[in-house]
Order: sequence, then C-alpha cells, then structure tokens
Amino acid sequence: MWNEGTYSPRDNFFNINPVMDHFNYKKGKLFAEEVSIEEIANKFGTPSYIYSKATLERHAKAYIDSFQSMKGLICFSVKALSNISILKILKKAGCGFDIVSGGELHRVILAGADPKKIIFSGVGKSRAEMAAGINHNILSFNIESEPELDRLKSVAREMNKIAPVAIRFNPNVDAGAHEFTKTGRKSDKFGVSIETAKNLVKECNDSDNLNLVGLTCHIGSQIMELESFEDAASQALDLLIELDKLNINIDFIDMGGGLGVNYIGEETIQPFELIQSYEKIFKGRDEILILEPGRSISANAGIMLAKVEYKKDDFLITDAAMNDLLRPALYDAHHDIWPVEKNDNLASNVNVVGPICETGDFLAKDINIAASENDLLAVRTVGAYGSVMSSNYNSRPRAAEVLVDRKNFYLIRKREDHSILTSLEEGLDDQI
Ligand code: LLP
Repeated sequence: MWNEGTYSPRDNFFNINPVMDHFNYKKGKLFAEEVSIEEIANKFGTPSYIYSKATLERHAKAYIDSFQSMKGLICFSVKALSNISILKILKKAGCGFDIVSGGELHRVILAGADPKKIIFSGVGKSRAEMAAGINHNILSFNIESEPELDRLKSVAREMNKIAPVAIRFNPNVDAGAHEFTKTGRKSDKFGVSIETAKNLVKECNDSDNLNLVGLTCHIGSQIMELESFEDAASQALDLLIELDKLNINIDFIDMGGGLGVNYIGEETIQPFELIQSYEKIFKGRDEILILEPGRSISANAGIMLAKVEYKKDDFLITDAAMNDLLRPALYDAHHDIWPVEKNDNLASNVNVVGPICETGDFLAKDINIAASENDLLAVRTVGAYGSVMSSNYNSRPRAAEVLVDRKNFYLIRKREDHSILTSLEEGLDDQI
C-alpha cells in the first residue's frame, strides 16, 4: 500500500520498494496498486503495458513541489510515453509538455494541454509543424540552428504572426548512459555553440516576427551525476549575464530533461536535489526554470506483461519481443523481470527472448528466474521509451496498454489486430 500522507519530494522516490512505484507482491502475487496483474492478463491478454496512475502522479509531484526560490514549470517529455490518457493525468497533475513533432502536438492538444505550457523541441521542424505550433499559440519553439531560425521567421512572417523562440545552446558536456542518447557534446547534432547562440539572440531581437522568450539546453538521458547538469547550468548563467549586458530580458531558462532512474540498483539523483542545484546556480535570477523530464516521471510507472510460450534449453521464449520493447536490443539495456506469481521452483539462469527472427531479439540475458510454459512475467521500469518505441516488425500487432487507478483498471490502448496491420496498404485489388 502506498502512503500519500507521508509523501515528501525529498523521499527517495525512484527506488524500487513498496512505497515508490506501486508494483508489489501480495501473498506471492504481483499487483499494480490494488489490482492483481493476473486479473489484467485474463481480461486484456499479453503482451500488455500496464501503468500505475499513482506512480505517475507521485513522480510529477516530486518535481513540481521541489521548487523553492524559483518559479518552475515541468514540461513532461512526451516522447517517453505519449498515450493520451497518461498525458491527461500529467496535465491534471500540473505538467506542461515538451514535444518534438506535429504528431506529439496533436496528442497534447487532444489531451487538453495548456498551449502556454507547450515547448516544441527538435532539430528538424518542418514548415507545417512550425505553422501548427504558431496557430496553437505555444509557449516556445526551441531553436537548434540558424537555418531553423530563418525558417521560423519566414513562416511567422507569412502568417503575419510573432513566433516565440528559445535558443538551444550546446554546452559541450559529455553526459548520458549510452552513446546514442548523449546530446550535449559539440559533435552531437543538437543545439548551437555559445557564439552562434549570441548571434541568434541578436537575430531575434532584430526581427518583427520573432520574440526571444528563453534559453534552453538538454545534455542527454539517463544521467546519474549532478556535475554535468551543473556544468551546463553554469554556462547558461554566463549566457544570461551576457544578455543582461545587451539589455535583453527573457522569460525562462529551460534545462531540458535527462535525470536517470534505477534500472540495476544504481544510485539516483532525486528531482529536489537537481532543482536545488539549479536554484543555487541561478540564485537571484527572475527567469522561470523549465525542466523537461521524461524517463524520471514515467519509467517506474510502467511494466510490460508477457507470457512464456516455451522453455527451450536456457531460453524462455515469451510472446513479447523486441518490437514491443526495443531498449534491450538497441541499447543493451537491462530491465528486471519478475514472475507475476512467485513459486518455489528452482530458479535457473535463462535468456528471455521473443519470437522475432533475430538473435538480437531479447528482453533479458542471463537472469535468474523460475518460470515455465504459460507463466506470466513482468518486465519492469518500461514506462519510458517502452510502448512509444514499439513497432510492427515481423507483422506483430502492437501490445495493449492498461492504466491502473487504485482498485480499477482501464484499457487505454486496444491491442492492434491483423486488419490494422494492412489497413493503410493499397493495391490489394490487383490494380498494380
Ligand atoms: N528534452 C529533450 C530535448 C530530449 O531530447 C529528451 C530526450 C528529453 C527532454 C527527455 O529526456 P529524459 O528525461 O527522458 O532523459 N530512447 C532512449 C532515450 C532517448 C531520449 C531522447 N531525448 C532510451 O530508451 O533510453
């Protein structure tokens, strides 16, 4: 049982224990909040993603309640988990959104987001995406290059509007768990150098169609040490001081996301520690502090349910595969796997794999678990970059998504069926 009464943002909220993520055993059976996972499997089948509403709310609150000396805004990074029901929960909890595509804009609008809490990030915005953002009156376009700023200026001019701009600078900081998710090094495609940032600031100032509202950066993902965040923030402060000298005022400083979570028992930084460090660095400034957490809000709020189809040598072959959860195959990421029902059988070392025809199709390697045919397994900490990165590879329909709210549970995305797989294809009547 969780205990909201004793909640404090200073709790070590990422750690996997009964109070933290609401996936716990009761009498040997795994529950999400007050619902038995087996009951969900019986109703909606496998593979399925299952999310805990209480966990999502708790994590959003851990950020939102941590601001002390600065005004803060938490823009949940939609790319981590984009189901509209989830976005609605986070919106109600007080979050805005960090989006990176027209599709994500569409989602957050459907979720009822406040446009003044929407940040549009990403290096490759199309004209159509810019026009949509301008039409929706979003808080800011986070601009990552000179040609992108020029394009935004031209789109805004055509529409006879003023586009809000934050310049993303690249602090040349090497942080993040995996080569593919580091974004703050000079050699990465993200942001502009401090020198270029200053030029772009001036370009905004000189334009009737651009309004400079912020500075931004995002250095990477699954970051486990404060120093990298502090390094980037100190550079942001230097840039703010330069803007002061030019008499240029902005509304916010957006430090992006990136806080790591506990996958394999790592020590994590708590949101309040991160926010405390930022507040120390930006002491005395009036700008709003925006953060764009994704993983640290949703990862622990989700599990993926799979069923063992076969046991073969040291392989457990499940009905979930790399198309359902790509992180192990793509990043060699580790996700704990728990049996949905504890048993007294002897545990053995196994590789948990899917039915896809690739050796890279694995969910976990060399883990110790007692499981046999038809047993249910829970793959943990998959609420971020789990369902959103799923695909139809091998013509496999995508999994169902289920939300648990205390003793109730709801289907929030139907399992795809075979007709959906082919519904967009043309030429079925032999015209080709
Ligand atoms: N803001 C921007 C501009 C981003 O690019 C990202 C993530 C975030 C915020 C949120 O970062 P977070 O708080 O979630 O670390 N697929 C990878 C992670 C890719 C992250 C991409 N950008 C994975 O599964 O580990």
